[in-house]
Amino acid sequence: MGNYLQLGLFMPSTTGSLIIAKGTPPQSEATWELNRDVSLAAEAAGMEFLLSQVKWRGYGGESGHWDGALESFTLMAAIAAVTSRIKLIGSVAVRTMNPAVVAKMAATVSDVSAGRFVVNIVAGWNKFEYAQMGLWSDDDYYLNRYEYADEFLHILKRLWSEESVTFKGKHFQLEDCRSFPKPRQMPEIVCAGQSEGALAFVAKEADYSFIGRMNDSAEQLGQVAAKISKLAEPHGRSVHSLTLLNVIAAPTDAEAQAEKAFYLENRDEVAIKEWMRVSGMDKNRIDYLHLDPEPATFMSVPYIVGSYEKVAAHLDALAVNGITGVCLAFPDFASDVPDFIANVMPLMKSRQRAE
Ligand SMILES: Cc1cc2nc3c(=O)[nH]c(=O)nc-3n(C[C@H](O)[C@H](O)[C@H](O)COP(=O)(O)O)c2cc1C
Repeated sequence: MGNYLQLGLFMPSTTGSLIIAKGTPPQSEATWELNRDVSLAAEAAGMEFLLSQVKWRGYGGESGHWDGALESFTLMAAIAAVTSRIKLIGSVAVRTMNPAVVAKMAATVSDVSAGRFVVNIVAGWNKFEYAQMGLWSDDDYYLNRYEYADEFLHILKRLWSEESVTFKGKHFQLEDCRSFPKPRQMPEIVCAGQSEGALAFVAKEADYSFIGRMNDSAEQLGQVAAKISKLAEPHGRSVHSLTLLNVIAAPTDAEAQAEKAFYLENRDEVAIKEWMRVSGMDKNRIDYLHLDPEPATFMSVPYIVGSYEKVAAHLDALAVNGITGVCLAFPDFASDVPDFIANVMPLMKSRQRAE
């Protein structure tokens, strides 16, 4: 019996998923009903987690890709009230809020969810999301954003566990700051950064790390997971590695490839150009972004295209290589989530627990 692979959803909380193309699918309205329905389906199928991203600006064009985005913590509070078992990962852009506010918001969702809330720390790489609201002081932030995130998370953890916090840092000052109630249990921490600064931060502070660049093999992902575990060792910690995966699955490889070709043909050049423009400003991540039009259509996120059997085998290979869990995205959540549950999950060896 190999490793068990956790599964979760990269929730459809933005208009359009991880494919910048015109038409429906891959574009979908980010509604409460859609997010609730796929969350309930994921929980009923035994998936382990749901993650919603935080986004403040999209890429325009005819597709209006990511122009609409439900706010992550408030969405997760509502999802918490209608689910009972699945973990809920809410995202916070540390640039946008004081940690004392976020500490209480997280404690609130922790209460609603009976301790199932997990916090995804987003350092923020996208200047145009923050500059539009006057929250980007200078471009040094591209390089020192994980130092900022570190201070932010240090404060969060103290507010979640101490009676009173006094702190004089580079970015935040707290004086006898109180935060009650405490979370039902200490929220676990997720971080999806991949730069060197991010990995150092993850090793020191996070419980789960998102790794994976487009075209990485399962073995390469396994090497990155091992590297992070090694970095965490001196801190006496263990960090689990998760990966994000865009799934185009169909009964046959040919049908799945035809679906991929359809999205490529309908790619939204205007929105892709905008995504490339703003992503290219970040010198911290430019080395691993794929800015050619084809991979940019898929937002540089790893994807698998193929038959149900091929997708299941790919997921099993990730488990064998030490990946703890996979966060799944689809072109059309409303129909693809039930399809994945019915046709891919039963084929996965990595979902069969020992009796
Ligand atoms: C699963 C996952 C979730 C993410 N969630 C967000 C998010 O909510 N908001 C955001 O701006 N970026 C998000 N990102 C981007 C990361 O936070 C991170 O900035 C990016 O992977 C680049 O890494 P770096 O910051 O080390 O350069 C996410 C990435 C992944 C893989």
